[in-house]
Amino acid sequence: MMARSSSSLHTACAPGKIILFGEHAVNRGQLALAAAVGLRTTCVVRESREGLWVFRSGQRQVAYSSESLQTLVERLDTALATRDFATITGATAADFFTSSAYVVGRAKAREAAPLEIAFTSDLPIGFGLGSGGAAHVALAVAVAHSGASAAVLPGAAEISAWALAGDRIAHGGVASGLDTQTSLVGGVIEYRDGEVGRPLPVPAGLRVVIGNTGIAKGTTGSVNGRVRRWLEEDSARMAIFVEMGGIAQAGREALLAANWAQLGVRMNEAHALLQQIGASHPQLDALCEAARRAGARGAKLTGAGGGGVMIALVEESTQPAVARAIREAGGTPLLTDIGVGGAALVT
Ligand code: MEV
Repeated sequence: MMARSSSSLHTACAPGKIILFGEHAVNRGQLALAAAVGLRTTCVVRESREGLWVFRSGQRQVAYSSESLQTLVERLDTALATRDFATITGATAADFFTSSAYVVGRAKAREAAPLEIAFTSDLPIGFGLGSGGAAHVALAVAVAHSGASAAVLPGAAEISAWALAGDRIAHGGVASGLDTQTSLVGGVIEYRDGEVGRPLPVPAGLRVVIGNTGIAKGTTGSVNGRVRRWLEEDSARMAIFVEMGGIAQAGREALLAANWAQLGVRMNEAHALLQQIGASHPQLDALCEAARRAGARGAKLTGAGGGGVMIALVEESTQPAVARAIREAGGTPLLTDIGVGGAALVT
């Protein structure tokens, strides 16, 4: 706990992520591995000049009174407690800023002075690179340093909890902390739901090409809902998620040993299981196939799936050909640093 500064303006930034192993399985108790990527969301928070809580991102802007923010938080709290997922997905569909408003509503006491909150991002929004998690983390960090009423800064556990609360709403009612922990901690982490992200000492040479299908996945909540209903139809399907956890374990060993050939094999296996649970999309499969044919060690969808992005494991020598193959197969290749630092207060 540190003394709070009296500044009225704070900026925080947080990286997006790729999931190496464990999307969807992490929501069912399995090990996951993820890495922060060199694309970030920035959040600027200042005291409101309008007496309203104002949220901005690009052309989007929404303002809440303190009362309407409080009402929203209470409605979403009730929906979470009763697993009323329809109310949550309805609220996020109606207002882009619902999950951010929930983060702020949770973070700020009723009497806190309204804030203006503005987001900018290098991350494509809604394509599986953790734009939501990065926004919630940057917001939680910036808000933690803002406002005049409290005398001390909240601790890391509170900031984590606020950011996760945002992902819970954005993911349709249930979220693991994988995205927000990766964004907070940075680097490459291993993670099990309910824990903190543990940094992994990753050897040099981990290199991926990200391929964006350009196909909007809808919300993570809609893909999560589909996967949840698929599992509810037959509980024996849980074995697939357990198998994903085993692949994540094997992938962890391969990663730590810099055994890129093994890591690639595990990624291909993970993609095949993600196909089985219905999380893939024909265009994700096509980009993975194209990347493998062009020399990638392995390829898989990353994030919730249903569209969005995939990753291909490459070496320096194969990277250009894999990027070209992804483009020729209709995707947009994206080269960025992997394992960058986590969230930070900028000012
Ligand atoms: C989304 O980035 C990862 C999922 O496992 C959802 C979650 O962890 O909450 C699909």
